[in-house]
Amino acid sequence: MGKTIRIGIIGSGGIAGEHARAYKNIEDVEIVGVADILPGRADQFIERWDLLQAKGFDDHQKLLEMELDGVSICTPNVAHHHTTIDSLLAGKNVMVEKPMSVTLEQAVDMVQISKQTGKILNIGFQPRYDPNMGLIKDLVQRGQLGKVYYVETGGGRRRGMPGGTFIRKDIAGAGAMADIGCYSLDLALNTLGYPKPLTVSAYTSSHFGTNPKYHPEADRFDVEDFGIAIIRFEGDLVLNFKTSWAMHMDTLGATMFLGTDAGMKVLPGSSGPWGGVWDGNVGAISLFHDIQGHHTESIIPLIDHKLSVFEEKIKAFVRALREGGPAPIPGEQILRNQAILDGILRSSQTKKEVEIQIPDIG
Ligand SMILES: NC(=O)c1ccc[n+]([C@@H]2O[C@H](COP(=O)([O-])OP(=O)(O)OC[C@H]3O[C@@H](n4cnc5c(N)ncnc54)[C@H](O)[C@@H]3O)[C@@H](O)[C@H]2O)c1
Repeated sequence: MGKTIRIGIIGSGGIAGEHARAYKNIEDVEIVGVADILPGRADQFIERWDLLQAKGFDDHQKLLEMELDGVSICTPNVAHHHTTIDSLLAGKNVMVEKPMSVTLEQAVDMVQISKQTGKILNIGFQPRYDPNMGLIKDLVQRGQLGKVYYVETGGGRRRGMPGGTFIRKDIAGAGAMADIGCYSLDLALNTLGYPKPLTVSAYTSSHFGTNPKYHPEADRFDVEDFGIAIIRFEGDLVLNFKTSWAMHMDTLGATMFLGTDAGMKVLPGSSGPWGGVWDGNVGAISLFHDIQGHHTESIIPLIDHKLSVFEEKIKAFVRALREGGPAPIPGEQILRNQAILDGILRSSQTKKEVEIQIPDIG
């Protein structure tokens, strides 16, 4: 029996339930407090998830007065920044849901405060815990493709638009590119070993979300439901990143890595109207290469596993809390993802290519 790890949850909507389920499955972990800005909502959550020892608050600062080892931040995107900063300044370790923040400035701020306070800032990308994600990265990092010069990733839902807190700029910050795109962006960047992004040229639109024919909340929808960006990186590498929540098409294509010795195609594991995007399930991996001049396609067998990647992400955070760090997916690494998402917002607004500059945090 180890020391009991005391957890607080900020934001008690949909994904907080998955956090609660996963924490409850780990021995010697107790959710001791929950905060939600909507009065009474935290108490309802406590009851629903049978966390009867936990206290409910309608102000996260009150929760932060408790003795806590770690905090899960499960608010809509716009609130990730200030609730993370408040938690770190209160001396708590943080796991924040994806996407880390809305702007690059906010992400930089979060990393700076985590460094100043010496507290963990961990980003909740559960696909990282799929062993097949490790396999994809290994194939690239061990040089199976030669030099990689072009990557295409993203994917599209034919009709899979969320509602509620996801479709308003003042709450979500952005739409499809940040919501589901952030997973495929992380797949590409993590596989490539985090190359430095230099420029972004992006286009976004919202022809489906704003049309009452397609969305019941069209009158309040003001984020993008489709986006494409060309991102240049140091080392003569380019990424074509595209995502849709809705479109008149079955697919936006596979994730592909083109290298001088081989190409790799990765198919998503999910299908149907809400499928077709990388969300942590790998459907198939194949390598395209020449063998004695013959154009060959080799199917890479997937690693068979029964892991719940979501539970693995929570377990990894708890392990870091027990061991005093480091963060399994450090905020500092995800600055590059956020810099690209920030560039996409700026470029789509100005309709021009924009430069990416990430301040040196030291
Ligand atoms: N990792 C995943 O698989 C996954 C899946 C879905 C959502 N998410 C992310 O989780 C976050 C929340 O998504 P959701 O689906 O749970 O949304 P939701 O709208 O269901 O829940 C958000 C909750 O946060 C509360 N809230 C808002 N501002 C707050 C504040 N300042 N302090 C405390 N509570 C506040 C709201 O009242 C609401 O109860 C988003 O950032 C989303 O991108 C991650």
